[in-house]
Amino acid sequence: MFARRIAVIGTGYVGLTTGACLASLGHHVVCADIDPAKIDRLKRGEVDILEPGLPELVMEGQAAGRLEFVLGARNGIVQPDAPPVEVVFLCVPTPMGEGGAADLAAVQTVVNEVRHLLPSGCVVVNKSTVPVGTAEATRKMLGRRDISVVSNPEFLREGSAVHDFLNPDRIVVGSDAQDAAERVAALYSKLGAPTQLTDAASAEMVKYAANCFLAMKLSYVNALADLCERLGADVIEVTEGMGYDRRIGQTFLSPGPGWGGSCFPKDTHALLQIAEAAGMDFDLVAGSLRTNVTTRARVVDKVRTAVGGSLAGKRVGLLGLAFKAGTDDLRDSPALAVAELLRAEGAELVGHDPACAKGVPGVTDGIAVTDDPIDVAKDTEALVVLTEWPQFRSLDWAALGGVAKSPVVIDTRNLLDPDVLRRAGFAWIGFGRS
Ligand code: UDX
Repeated sequence: MFARRIAVIGTGYVGLTTGACLASLGHHVVCADIDPAKIDRLKRGEVDILEPGLPELVMEGQAAGRLEFVLGARNGIVQPDAPPVEVVFLCVPTPMGEGGAADLAAVQTVVNEVRHLLPSGCVVVNKSTVPVGTAEATRKMLGRRDISVVSNPEFLREGSAVHDFLNPDRIVVGSDAQDAAERVAALYSKLGAPTQLTDAASAEMVKYAANCFLAMKLSYVNALADLCERLGADVIEVTEGMGYDRRIGQTFLSPGPGWGGSCFPKDTHALLQIAEAAGMDFDLVAGSLRTNVTTRARVVDKVRTAVGGSLAGKRVGLLGLAFKAGTDDLRDSPALAVAELLRAEGAELVGHDPACAKGVPGVTDGIAVTDDPIDVAKDTEALVVLTEWPQFRSLDWAALGGVAKSPVVIDTRNLLDPDVLRRAGFAWIGFGRS
């Protein structure tokens, strides 16, 4: 494998993981960001995000002289006294913009800033989730015949991003310039992963296709949980039976309070928008989004019923605020969406999350966040498990029951052992369980 000189623009989840992991594969990587404080922290080896293995890789990369952090895209590209950069990864945010479409302003800004600085023959790689056609649009924005554009979507899950990067199910590289695609694919050759070389539009589509399929799978399971409950079936048994079919698989079949996070909501809305612009009504994806709304409302129904029919003035404890376990990310968290609905009906909320010791202004407003699980139960009329943190299983449930006004747990993740809860004096209400 050739060690390449790489610039990574943007040091968020995707950019920082990409930069640190590429450095660990032997490449020389310069990571650039517009946030001076963040760059200073990264230079000191401080990683802001909760991502197992990432701080270690950042330290190792810097110690080996293969990973650098610089302020601004320009400094990522122009590296004095160094050979020219060969590959530039764009890892800037593409948030949900007007009407659900991906907002490409950050990509545009970076391209405008660096287009005249890129050395001839270098490859620009888009790693952000972007609408189909962005590689082509980027090529036009660059206006340089001597630069190729490649789409190389990431499939990293938060909380296991380093593991996912180093053990990928597949690597997808799309470009209308075959040699550029091969050069990017070669960056990963050490990983020995199945690699698909394809055209740019197909590569861009793979990311939406995969994420929306997964979101659809979860909406299906959440709807199934509802039906199981109505019919006296048990969703855990049903999904196990389904999952033995190799075409379905056992993973990604756990019901919950709805799906969220930084990708699924954004990508489902974007795909709908893309389809609509192409004159197509992609009702399967629209239906998955509708089911996600219904799922959250169903959590609220259960809590309302558990507290006697009205949430007004009732104290409710929330176990989990992050969008899933293993992360401190609160973006588009189903837990917070449920909290908002509960609050709208007048519930008084207290919340606890192992990765979120105190409230975040503007995000957890209206929830009294505590780092003590006992406090989350104190005087509550119901506790709601919203994030599947394994440590919730081993809480001192007898102690929690001792301080609760009414010991009831609504376990939206089917995380807890109902027998343990019952022995501790709690009424346990699961999701889709008979
Ligand atoms: C996702 C994709 O998995 C990843 O490939 C992509 O690149 C980015 O988006 P992430 O957002 O980190 O990753 O989370 P993921 O682990 O996929 O979970 C998404 C949501 O689905 C969470 O809210 C999670 O709690 C929920 N979920 C997941 C379930 O409710 N049940 C499951 O069985 C799995």
